[in-house]
Amino acid sequence: MTRVNIDSDPDDISSNPSPNEALADVLSRRSLLKGGTVVAAAGFLTTSMAGSPAQAASARSKPKALLGFKAVPASPADALTVPEGYSAQVLIPWGTPLSDSGPSWKKDASNSAAEQAQQVGMHHDGMSFFPYGNTSGLLAVNHEYSDTTLLYTDGDAVMTKEKVDKALAAHGVTIVRVRHKRGKWIRQDSRYNRRITGSTPVTFSGPVGPTHPALKANGPALGTLNNCSNGQTPWGTYLTCEENWNGYLGTESATWTPNAEEKRYGIAKAGFGYKWHTADPRFDIAVNPKEVNRFGWVVEIDPFRPGSTPVKRTALGRTKHEGATVVESQGRVVVYMGDDQDSEYVYKFVGDASWRKLIRRGQSPLDHGTLYVAKFNDDGTGTWLPLVFGKGPLTTANGWTDQADVLLRTRTAADAVGATKLDRPEWVAVHPDTNDVYLTLTNGKGNGGTVNPRTPNPYGHIVRWREKHGDHTATTFAWDVFVLSGDPAYDPKVKLGPDNIHGSPDGIGFDESGRLWIQTDISNSSQNLASKGYDHIGNNQMLAADPKTGEIRRFLVGPRGCEITGLAFTPDQRTMFVNVQHPGETTTAWGTPTPANPRAVSNWPDFDPQGRARSATVVITKNDGGKIGT
Ligand code: FEO
Ligand code: CA
Ligand code: CA
Repeated sequence: MTRVNIDSDPDDISSNPSPNEALADVLSRRSLLKGGTVVAAAGFLTTSMAGSPAQAASARSKPKALLGFKAVPASPADALTVPEGYSAQVLIPWGTPLSDSGPSWKKDASNSAAEQAQQVGMHHDGMSFFPYGNTSGLLAVNHEYSDTTLLYTDGDAVMTKEKVDKALAAHGVTIVRVRHKRGKWIRQDSRYNRRITGSTPVTFSGPVGPTHPALKANGPALGTLNNCSNGQTPWGTYLTCEENWNGYLGTESATWTPNAEEKRYGIAKAGFGYKWHTADPRFDIAVNPKEVNRFGWVVEIDPFRPGSTPVKRTALGRTKHEGATVVESQGRVVVYMGDDQDSEYVYKFVGDASWRKLIRRGQSPLDHGTLYVAKFNDDGTGTWLPLVFGKGPLTTANGWTDQADVLLRTRTAADAVGATKLDRPEWVAVHPDTNDVYLTLTNGKGNGGTVNPRTPNPYGHIVRWREKHGDHTATTFAWDVFVLSGDPAYDPKVKLGPDNIHGSPDGIGFDESGRLWIQTDISNSSQNLASKGYDHIGNNQMLAADPKTGEIRRFLVGPRGCEITGLAFTPDQRTMFVNVQHPGETTTAWGTPTPANPRAVSNWPDFDPQGRARSATVVITKNDGGKIGT
C-alpha cells in the first residue's frame, strides 16, 4: 500500500526498538553455516520428501503440470492484462450502489457521506466468497483506506466533518450478493447486502471485553478501519483485519507526545496525513486517547446475519493485522497472522478445544485459545512462543497485569519473549495437501542480513515452514525460503527471469489444486523506476507458482498505480475473484492526481474522459470454461 506521503510506505519504517533477532540475521548466519547460498539453505521439502511413496507414485503417473497458461509480460501500461485464453470482467467498482434503488456513483466524486455508506467502499483488499454454488454467492470485500484526492471533488486541502464521514463510509467491508447471469457476473439485490464502515457499531469479545477500562473512549465503540487482509472460518463467518489503524489518529496539541505503547504502534502527531483529527475530535489522540485501543484487532462478521454486530476478537492479539488465515488441526482452529511493519513478527492463535463443540455450546472458538509468536532459529527450526500472562517474562514482577494487558500490548509482549523480527510479514497461505505454511515478507531494510534477505531488502521474499508432524497446533517447525523475489539484473542471487520477475509479494493464497497465487504490492515510490531497481518489473501483478517444482509464472498485470490483492474462487475453481486496489494513486513514475486532473496516473477501469480511477473486483474466467491456472 502507498499512502498519503509516498516518500516511503509508513509500514517500511520500524517502530520496534527491541534487541530481538531479525530473520535476516538468522538467514545470514545459516547460509554461512551451510557454506552455501540461499538455495543451499532452502530445501526441507526436497530432503524430507525424497524417496517418499508419494513422490514415487507421482513420478510414475506423471501428473499434468500445474501451470498451463502462457506468461503475461511485465508491463507499465494502464491496463489489466490476463493470459491468452482468459477473460477479465470488472465487478462492483468503488461507488457501486448496494441496491437497485441506491444512489448512483458520481464520477466527479460529489456523492455525499450518506450516499457513500450505501455504496461499495473504496480500495478493495482481502475478500472471501461465500458460495451458494458455482454461479452465485456472497462476496465479503475489505476496503483498506481512502485516496483523499480521488474521494472528494476538491481534494483534501480543507478537511471537514462531512469529508471525514465520507472517508469513514468508504472504509470497512462490503457484503454483496453476486451471481452469474447471461455470460456475466452481476451485483444482485439481497437482504444480505450491507456495508460495515468506520462508523458502524461494533463490540469486543475475549479477554479484552466490551467493558474493559482501556476501551472506555468518548462515545460508543464504532467501526473498523484499514481492513487489509482477511480470513474465513469453518463456521461460515468472515474475518477482517485492522492494519494501519494508527495512521488515522493525530493531534494539533503542542504538548502531546506519544507514550511508550503509542510509539510501539507508530502513533504520531500527524498520523499518515488523513487530517481527520482536525475535523472530528474522535480521532484527536490528545482529546480521545483511548480510541486507539479500539483498533488493531481481528473482527468477525457474520455475512448471513445482516443485523449482527461485528465482534473484535481480542484473544487474537492487537497488532497491525495483515490477515487471519484459518486452518483446522485436531478439530481445533489455528489462525496465522502477519503484523505488517518492518521488523515485526508472525503470530498464530491455537484454539484450546474442538471448534464444533464450542459452537454447539454457543461459545466462539476465537475466544478460547493461546496466542503464539514465532521464533526462527539458526538451524532451520523454529519455535512458537506463548503470549500468556504469568508465563516466561509476562509476569506481575515485570509489570504485566493480566491476559488482557498482554493482548492490548501484544507487540511489547512479543518483544519480551524474544520473537524474530521479519521484513514486513504480510499474508499466510497453507497448502491444501502438504499443510506447509507460506508467508510473504514484502520488503524491509534487511535488518543486517548480508546474503538473504538483502540489506536493504527492497524486493521481499517468501518463507515457508512445516509444523511438526504437519500439525498446526504444534509448537515447533522447520522452515526454509521458497523464493527470493526481485530482478537478477540488479541482484544475481535472484533466480527469476522475464516470465516471473516480481517484487514485494503481499497477497498469497492456494487454490484447491495446490497452485500458489502470489500478488504484489510494490510501493508507488518504486514502481517502474530504474533508480529503485524496479524498471523491468512493470506494474503490480499476480503470479502462480507450483510449490513442488518451484516454477513461477506471471498471470496478470494491473493498471498504473494499483496493487493486486484479494483472492477468492468459486468451488469449481472456474471463476476467480481478484481485487485491483488504488489504481490512479500518486506514483513517482507517473505523477500526482489533482482535483482538476484526477486521471494523471490512471483512468482504469472506465477510461471515461470525465471520470477517475476506481478500485474494483475483477472476475477472471477461462474462455474454454476450464479451471483457472490450467
Ligand atoms: Fe495492507 Fe500490508 O498490506
Ligand atoms: Ca502491502
Ligand atoms: Ca496487503
